[in-house]
Amino acid sequence: MIWTELSSAPPLGTVVPGGDLQSGARAVTVTTDAGDFPLLLVMTDDGIKGFVNACPHQFLPLDYRSPHLMSHDGTKLMCSAHGAIFDARTGDGVGGHGLGCSLSPVPLHRTDGQLVIGSRTP
Ligand code: FES
Repeated sequence: MIWTELSSAPPLGTVVPGGDLQSGARAVTVTTDAGDFPLLLVMTDDGIKGFVNACPHQFLPLDYRSPHLMSHDGTKLMCSAHGAIFDARTGDGVGGHGLGCSLSPVPLHRTDGQLVIGSRTP
């Protein structure tokens, strides 16, 4: 699934709530005229990453049972529903029900101090 295929996909340039994330992972909802888009923000050693907050195992939000998704070393995410494990930087499945699938990345960048949807334009 590509994030833009969701009917609730926000337009490029939409400001994302929760952009002050300093560590760990946070589920947020981006609400626009298109609807409510489930976004997972993840702070990594490579900066903040975004993924559609839908686990490819059964498409439940990763925080379905708990908001605590990040491993202690900050390198992996674990879905709270059935334990699928994903690389925090790439979203690739690396364990459990995550093997063979991946989270859908959502491009993010900062502009004027705000976190927004979309890649930075040159
Ligand atoms: S829905 Fe995430 S592991 Fe089952």
